[in-house]
Amino acid sequence: MIIAIDGPASSGKGTLARKLALHYGLPHLDTGSLYRSVARRLLREGADLHDVGAAESAARSLTPADLSDPALRDEKTGEAASVVSAMPGVRAALLDYQRTFARQPGGAVLDGRDVGTVICPEADAKLFVTAAAPVRARRRADELKARGEPADEGRILEDIEARDRRDAERPVAPLRPAADAHLLDTSNLSIEAAFAAAIAVIESAVHQSAAERPPEKPAGP
Ligand code: DC
Repeated sequence: MIIAIDGPASSGKGTLARKLALHYGLPHLDTGSLYRSVARRLLREGADLHDVGAAESAARSLTPADLSDPALRDEKTGEAASVVSAMPGVRAALLDYQRTFARQPGGAVLDGRDVGTVICPEADAKLFVTAAAPVRARRRADELKARGEPADEGRILEDIEARDRRDAERPVAPLRPAADAHLLDTSNLSIEAAFAAAIAVIESAVHQSAAERPPEKPAGP
């Protein structure tokens, strides 16, 4: 079973994806971490973030060490990831890895911006997770404070809105729900309530696709 979870920054899609992966015993890929890794490499090397050649070459040569860099979750890296992720060559370089991950035997849970539209249009269940921008800014600020980092909620809100615009307005793989995605607005939902709603959506999508599948031919001569 492939579960595709898309949505804007700090919508709760990552938490939801991890919980669903645990619940169904499926491997999970946070596709944003790939774009963050490309951005982080450029930042670390002091390269220009708008240098398309450098970004593409980083995307083609990511290593497990890049993916476990503790600075991946920084605000600065998230902003930079939004810039490099608008480059078609960077997206193309990361496509095969994501598709192969999704199509491994047994399936997987992937979260990102274009999982249901580009990476896995055939996913068994698609969720588009949203929350109002001020709610997302508050959640992000709480997350930073919990890590002992400074958090200016007003500035975080501005960054979130700028990132939403950049992710939604780029010509290649823009942030938008797939036509067959189920919208899940978590603005007023606890993590547990969002999880329960997601399970209900997935169970119904899976039963529906099983009902639509042609019956298997009986085995034998
Ligand atoms: O989900 P995130 O905050 O870790 O994503 C960081 C950036 O990466 C985000 O601003 C847009 C980009 N991204 C993308 O373009 N496509 C994806 N599938 C995942 C993330």
